[in-house]
Amino acid sequence: MKRRDFINWVGLGWIATSLPVAIAACSSESTTPKTSASGDWQTVGTSAELDKAGQLLAKNSPVGPVLVVGTSKTAMTAVDPTCTHKGCTVVWQAQTKKFACPCHHSEFGIDGKVQKGPATEPLKTYAAKIERNSVVVKPV
Ligand code: FES
Repeated sequence: MKRRDFINWVGLGWIATSLPVAIAACSSESTTPKTSASGDWQTVGTSAELDKAGQLLAKNSPVGPVLVVGTSKTAMTAVDPTCTHKGCTVVWQAQTKKFACPCHHSEFGIDGKVQKGPATEPLKTYAAKIERNSVVVKPV
């Protein structure tokens, strides 16, 4: 093989192997958040994850932080777990069915409403449902 033929052969090989990577890197789909097929519902996790723990925390979902409680077989509730007092992350207490803030002990009902201060504003809530083995939410 002549030197020129060899260089052309290596160049074509490089282009052939690099082209799919270049196309994938330029695709806008890779940077778009996962969106459900039905409008502004956003995927925050899988039904298997929710069923395993009885709750699912998605800190960086497309709609912001979301805490879903329940299971795919029962009623689900989804809230923004950011405490409305000073911004700590509330935790779900399944025994008492309350969201409790570890910082200053505010408590919120399953509907997000304040049950005990110092917080005065309710947690933001989301509609939640299962769609093709995914947990999806949308602001209400
Ligand atoms: S930050 Fe939650 S009660 Fe203060």
